[in-house]
Parts: sequence; structure tokens; C-alpha cells
Amino acid sequence: MEFKIIKSDHPMPDAQREALLENPAFGVNFTDHQVIIEWTREDGWKNARVEPYGPIMMDPSSAVLHYGQEIFEGIKAYRHQDGSIHTFRPESNGARMQKSAHRMALPELPIDVFVESLRALISVDGAWVPKPVNEKTLYFRPFEIAAENFLGVRAAHRAEYRVIASPVGPYFTGGLKPVSIWIALDSARAGRYGTGEAKTGGNYAASLLAQGEGYENGCSQVLFLDAETHTYIEELGGMNVFFVYKDGHVVTPSLDGTILRGITRDSIIQLLKDRNIKVEERAVTLDEIREGYNSGEIIEVFACGTAAVITPVGQFKSKEGSIGPENPEPGALTASLREELTGIQYGLIEDRHNWLVKLS
Ligand code: PLP
Ligand code: COI
Repeated sequence: MEFKIIKSDHPMPDAQREALLENPAFGVNFTDHQVIIEWTREDGWKNARVEPYGPIMMDPSSAVLHYGQEIFEGIKAYRHQDGSIHTFRPESNGARMQKSAHRMALPELPIDVFVESLRALISVDGAWVPKPVNEKTLYFRPFEIAAENFLGVRAAHRAEYRVIASPVGPYFTGGLKPVSIWIALDSARAGRYGTGEAKTGGNYAASLLAQGEGYENGCSQVLFLDAETHTYIEELGGMNVFFVYKDGHVVTPSLDGTILRGITRDSIIQLLKDRNIKVEERAVTLDEIREGYNSGEIIEVFACGTAAVITPVGQFKSKEGSIGPENPEPGALTASLREELTGIQYGLIEDRHNWLVKLS
């Protein structure tokens, strides 16, 4: 698919952009351009273009505003020391977006077009990828919305795929300082046969009430339990979670259709296998974690995701009390996995699984 390029006539001046790239906060500033591809039921995908960044003109009856038919992805561009720009496992994000699209009755964008759309944006906004220091990257936000003006409840006959991009520093500003996690005891994020495995806006909307409670209690993320029995650990609002045991093995909740298939999660499992560390993907109860912490069986916990990379977890808190030490030192395995993963992403460690794709 050819992307038509329509350049902005008012890009941010170089000096202003460079100043902004010194210390970018997460997701508040955006590059000069965006990708747009339209879809109609009659014609399929069409009119692929890169346009100046700007607001979406939308009819108030647009389906996405009423029934939340929306999906998104999160993926980063990394600048290497030689100035080249790479992304990480984009085919996996493209494939996940197709699965999300299927679940939300949206059209599936071909995976190669997904990857090309990132390359097209970088072809005009490459200067927005920060220098490779302090975990700075350019975060892409590909998303797809139902774009038909119609209030009937059925899959829209028009849709739009866009990519915007935001220069970002670490999601958690404390660096390797462990974050506290609020356990959602009164709400669930996703139920069986529901939309938990899809990266759709509604799952995040459903997480915000508990996330707010978490903030009020000094926690920066929320842990969700399974909707049915409220005993099994699923994932955090925007991250997967891993537990490291004293004997060296590592446990993460299995993918049961209600949690997101994290690409960072999958990469970490591979890196652990490469080290001959036993990884168990299985059901994990909150009781197991409480007992494991109390007995000293569990020695490290970390969260992972594209935005969060690998972040050590300190205490779990809830209205029923807290689990784990308040301000633990970041665990050794957590720190070394984080170094290895970011080392691969920034081109400092050999990419032995061919995870990187060059964008420029
Ligand atoms: N779980 C949720 C709910 C997320 O939003 C994310 C972030 O994308 C993840 C897990 C981690 O997924 P990934 O590693 O692909 O970014
Ligand atoms: C990501 O990691 O890309 C996400 O979408 C999660 C969110 C916390 C920004």
C-alpha cells in the first residue's frame, strides 16, 4: 500500500523540538504528523496517507462515540547509537491488533500495512525519536475507530486506522524504584468470553475507578483478579505481572482469554528460557502470593509492558491490608532482565531472536 505524504506547513521548530526531547513526559506531546487509512465495507482499506497532526473532524453520531467500537496498540521506536531507528516485534503488535479488531467487529488491517504505517510516519517524523539516553523513545499509538454516522447497534460500515506518536521518557518516573500496586477488590476488568484479551478502550475505562482508588492510596497501578471467583491474579491495568521464587523459578498468570497477550511478557519468557530459568505460565491465586511473600518464598515481583518496560513492584495494598515489604530494593533478576531487554531494544546487545525491525 502506497502512503501519500502531505507535509505539515507548521512543523515544530527544531530548537523547540530538541528542548522538548530533553525530558518528555509520557503521552503529552505529539509529533508533527499522523497516519490515516480509511476503510469502507464496499472498498476495504484505502486512502493511506501521512498528514499534519491535528484534530479529528467527527460527526456527533459517529459510532465510536456511542458504542466504544475502538482498539489500539502501543509500540516504540528506539534510536541506536549510530542514529538508525528501530522498532520491536511490530508483526506481533500487528497480529494482536488484528485479533482485537476481530473481537470488536472492526476490519483487520494487514500486518505488513501496520508495519509500513510506522515506517511512513518515521519517514517524516524521524527527528522526533529521542537520543538513546534515560530510556527515551518515541511511543507510537496506532488505533482504529468505527467511523460511521449511525446510531443503530451493529458493526460500523466505515472505520479509520490512525497512528499518532509521542516522545516519551519512563512511564514511572522513579526509575528502578519499586511501585506499589492497589488490588481491585470491588471491580473486575474483564470476564470470561468478554473482551479482556482485546486491546480496546472499554477495558481501560473499566479500570479507571479502581485506578483512582489506587492513586488515593499511594499506588501507581491496579491489580485485577478474575471476574468469576475473584481469587486468581490476572494483570495490572496496563501491564502483565511476574513473580520470582526463592528457588529461582518464575511464575506468571497464564493467558486465559481475559488478559492481554503482552509482547513484553512473551519476550521475557523467551529471555528466561534462554537463561535456562524455569517459567511457569499457570493460574496464580492472591492467597499464594500473600503466603509466598509472608514465608519468603517469593523474592521479587515485577510488572512489564511496552510503556512500563520492566518495573519492580513493591507492596500490594488493598482495603484489607498490605502484602510485601514497603520499600524493597529492586530484585536482581528484575534489574538484569530490564537491562537485557532494553539492551536489545537500543542495539547494545545482540538481537539473537531477530526482534528488531529497522524503520530508518
Ligand atoms: N496488559 C495491559 C492491560 C496492557 O495495556 C499492556 C500494555 O500494552 C500490557 C499488558 C503489556 O503488553 P505489551 O507488553 O504488549 O505492551
Ligand atoms: C502500553 O504499554 O503500550 C500500554 O498501552 C499501556 C498503557 C499503560 C499506556
